Amino acid sequence: MAKHLINIINPFLDKKGGLMPALHAVQDHLGFISKDNIRELAIAFNCSQAEVIDVITFYDDFRLKAIGKNIIKICQAEACQSQNCKELLHNLTSHFGLNINETSNDLNITLKEVFCLGNCAIGPSVMINDMVIGEATTEKVVNQLKVINAEE
Ligand code: FES
Repeated sequence: MAKHLINIINPFLDKKGGLMPALHAVQDHLGFISKDNIRELAIAFNCSQAEVIDVITFYDDFRLKAIGKNIIKICQAEACQSQNCKELLHNLTSHFGLNINETSNDLNITLKEVFCLGNCAIGPSVMINDMVIGEATTEKVVNQLKVINAEE
């Protein structure tokens, strides 16, 4: 087992129900839970890989793939639909060359579809990480992403 992984899951190994907090810890540290992680967790918790996968797939919080450093959420709920959010989604997926739930190869962005960001009055709405953009356009989203990347 990779030394790094054992350090992450060590506090949970002797605890009843320790697999769940161990999975959270792995994801917090590594960004997602890899196939290797699943194999190693099964060994560490003395269960089958299928049991580990059952827990992962039961809860929406767990990810089996890397996720982008920046999460771009595009609202597709009713109020934004009347403000051309479908066209915006099409334009953004074309611009980035990604489908919804895909992550760029450089792991910079992940595109997500969401249903209401609580910003209905000035839609279409997009959220980049924790920042909501009203009356969103492709240009506004791309510019905000440039600002975020420049700050890092
Ligand atoms: S419907 Fe899009 S923010 Fe509410």
